[in-house]
Amino acid sequence: MLDRRHFLKSSTTLAAGLYLSPALLQARNKIAASDKIRVALIGANNMGFGILRHHLALPEVDCVAICDVDQNVLERRISEVETATGKKPEAYSDFRKLLEKTDLDAVIIGTPDHWHCMIAVAACQAGKDVYVEKPMANTIGECDLMVNAKNRYQRIMQVGQQQRSGQAFIESRDLVKSGYLGKIRKVNIWSNFNYGLGNLVKPPQEIPEGVNYDFWLGPAPQRDFNPNRFHGSWRHFWDYGGGLMSDWGVHLLDMAIWVEEQPAVPSRVLTYAANVNMENRDRDTFDTMNVLYPKKDFLINYDMNGGLQTGPYGKPYGIGYVAEKGTLVVNRGGYEIYPEWDGEAKAPKIEAKKLEGMKESHNAHVANFVECIKTRNQPICPPEDGRIAALHAHIPNIAARVGAEELIWEEEKRTFKGNMAANELIWPNYREPWVLPKL
Ligand SMILES: NC(=O)c1ccc[n+]([C@@H]2O[C@H](COP(=O)([O-])OP(=O)(O)OC[C@H]3O[C@@H](n4cnc5c(N)ncnc54)[C@H](O)[C@@H]3O)[C@@H](O)[C@H]2O)c1
Repeated sequence: MLDRRHFLKSSTTLAAGLYLSPALLQARNKIAASDKIRVALIGANNMGFGILRHHLALPEVDCVAICDVDQNVLERRISEVETATGKKPEAYSDFRKLLEKTDLDAVIIGTPDHWHCMIAVAACQAGKDVYVEKPMANTIGECDLMVNAKNRYQRIMQVGQQQRSGQAFIESRDLVKSGYLGKIRKVNIWSNFNYGLGNLVKPPQEIPEGVNYDFWLGPAPQRDFNPNRFHGSWRHFWDYGGGLMSDWGVHLLDMAIWVEEQPAVPSRVLTYAANVNMENRDRDTFDTMNVLYPKKDFLINYDMNGGLQTGPYGKPYGIGYVAEKGTLVVNRGGYEIYPEWDGEAKAPKIEAKKLEGMKESHNAHVANFVECIKTRNQPICPPEDGRIAALHAHIPNIAARVGAEELIWEEEKRTFKGNMAANELIWPNYREPWVLPKL
């Protein structure tokens, strides 16, 4: 049995008609410093529960409810929270019922990506603040709806791009923006992970006991149950996610956007995508992608290899800010500066520097969210920024799916220039009876 302290210290590695009546809009827009913040978790298997743990590490937070469409996950997580905190959260299997609760301030959305928009918009309509995992939505159009919902209902929405709260990334950004490295030419980003291949192909199976699979699919197309398309590995299928690109790419690309003078969605994207690995793996998404994003300030150069796990500087993933006086290489573990050599002065152009041993950033990102619930200030990653990051993943994925080496995104019109096939992928087609929120 885990006690609360141990539980909290454990690592995180670990619509139908959504109209909600005005009576339900009983948001607490002012929260006294002494008040408890009451949160609920929707989607509890893995990352969502990790994020809940970080909330519970804060003395002012209580978990009042957990919702999941898999009863096995739901019961396990409820019992873990009860054991750790001494308080049993209420159990829900339908987020719409959960959102009717009036004694609830905020929700954490830890479902697969195809649910993020519908649940986030409904939560805003119900007057709840929202911590939504990245990528903030599974399509470009849904990102816009979430921004609109946050603004219309005046909610706090934090997108789970937690690297913005990580010390190594914050220091790197400050060094880049201070001009210490000189003018930035390129931001090289790489993400190589074995899991990017997906699982070996399996036949469809019986739906496991306790799983409401129809509800799990929700707005996504009807399919036979296959464990490859379920917990964890759903991310390799377009119906629910965007592969390694929207899993890791979105985090790392966010760190390039972060050092732009005026962060913006990419207007031009050049994409090469392929499936190189010939094993019998189950996925829609690509194992190999190289993407160029020519930006106003510099070029972003993204290199992704699912099925490989080594990369430049001995790191499976990372970011290299390549500048006139040196290159700064950073990942979640720390950063290092590799100075350029000045041939005339016979000396490095800047000092080498190294920061090691950084690991955790979810805790600071969650603490920032909870602070913003109280102060009503903008969090570190509001949906406007989460949208910019998500579009850096969705646009090349769309390019790869329609076979376009170049895509031009017209931000004002919210369309791709001259590519009908790409334009068809801007919005999802929700399966009845679920309907895309209207805002
Ligand atoms: N920030 C990070 O570092 C990070 C890391 C991993 C995952 N994530 C993100 O977290 C999210 C969840 O990923 P995961 O790996 O935990 O997935 P997972 O498949 O392990 O867990 C998802 C859970 O959501 C539940 N669920 C599905 N539909 C639901 C619904 N309508 N209502 C309630 N519960 C529902 C599932 O039953 C499951 O328990 C994804 O968006 C993913 O991209 C973020």
